[in-house]
Amino acid sequence: MSHPLWKSVTQLENRAGVLHFEGCDVRLLAKEFGTPLYVYSESRIRSNYRRLVEAYQKEYPNTKVYYAIKANSNPALVKILASEGAGADASCIQEIQIAKLAGIPTEDILYSGIYNSNQELRDAVSEHVKLNIEDISQLDRLEQIHVPTFLCFRVNPGIASSGSEGLIFAGPDAKFGIIERDIEKAYKKAKELGVQKFGIHMMTGSNILEPSYFEEVVEKLLDIAGPMAKKLQITFDFIDIGGSLGVPMHPDQKELDIEKVAKAVVKKLRQKLIQYDMGEPLLLLEPGRYLLSDAGILLSHVTSIKESHKKFIGLDAGMQTLLRPALYDAYHHIVYANDVNAICDEKVHVVGQVCENTDILAKDRLLPSHISVGDLLAIFNAGAYGFCMSSQYNNRPRPAEVLVTKGKAELIRERESFAHLIQSVRIPKHL
Ligand SMILES: Cc1ncc(COP(=O)(O)O)c(C=O)c1O
Repeated sequence: MSHPLWKSVTQLENRAGVLHFEGCDVRLLAKEFGTPLYVYSESRIRSNYRRLVEAYQKEYPNTKVYYAIKANSNPALVKILASEGAGADASCIQEIQIAKLAGIPTEDILYSGIYNSNQELRDAVSEHVKLNIEDISQLDRLEQIHVPTFLCFRVNPGIASSGSEGLIFAGPDAKFGIIERDIEKAYKKAKELGVQKFGIHMMTGSNILEPSYFEEVVEKLLDIAGPMAKKLQITFDFIDIGGSLGVPMHPDQKELDIEKVAKAVVKKLRQKLIQYDMGEPLLLLEPGRYLLSDAGILLSHVTSIKESHKKFIGLDAGMQTLLRPALYDAYHHIVYANDVNAICDEKVHVVGQVCENTDILAKDRLLPSHISVGDLLAIFNAGAYGFCMSSQYNNRPRPAEVLVTKGKAELIRERESFAHLIQSVRIPKHL
């Protein structure tokens, strides 16, 4: 096998200049399934999961991974993770259903809906999954609906990191979680209402590549949980430290040394568990990006090239296919799939076909100057927050998704057609 083309992703290979993904020639995938096309590597998903679980379980055997379904909710991919032993972090009722469809038992599903309606609380209760709520007012409403025997609260621990893309979920401007000032009130009330078992959860940011960050937030969380547990005479069945693990998107970014992160996090966790006499609760991780991001690529054909004030390379993928560059100004590495050895000698803008000037997948990106209409580009790190954020904007049907496994490709979601665009439309008779 030749060297991987991208970081440690051995499934992305340069075979005589042609990009291959888990043994498949991407040109043939594009020909068979059309473009834009999301392609996922089964072995990369599995190896990402195993690397993470092994790193943590070596340090703290009582660790479990609940995959954050929102990162990529294709049930075929969730099933791969379920077969590895993953539970699920579900952000809505539909994600509970996807987790169940993929074979995840309800006791391994944590529902972390935010700003829940009464109906959503009712539905989550009747699904018999574990509830993680993020506001004391929801507890008041649960009192009317049903008080579960187990309850988890999402804490906003006040500190947060935003990675490189402003993905910030804690601190004063974040809409998530219960702030430190109110958290004790929430657990006290839950206990009074008859809740017997508890969890505590935080999710502070996403795509974080700073290794020291994780132990710092764990320390903060335990400094909130520990004294409160003692005061209220409650115990925590689990400590959920969320997802947040970053993956390198840019060639200059380094991968997280996950063993080092796990060691540092567990060292801090054990120290705090002893300090506050909290026993050995389950450690829950809720990664999304870390498991899926580099296990997916997006293939797209060049549709048109314009020489203007700048050179624009137009693709059949755009912000409706992969929203992250338009939404976060996120960097996604792009390679010329037909000849990955070609010299990148010209700065271009890579754009889509949507009528928005934010429909730019890459700005001033160095690519080969001889790229022509009909050539194939591959956009990396498209496995997480890719398809699931896609839309039908400008009436463009959503793309297909394919799973590659040891050189074989299988369709896991059909490309949408015009029929999908109008299937739920009803035209009133008088028109
Ligand atoms: C509650 C919760 N858990 C887990 C995740 C997954 O985060 P990441 O993809 O950074 O691992 C998210 C992402 O928004 C989340 O909101």
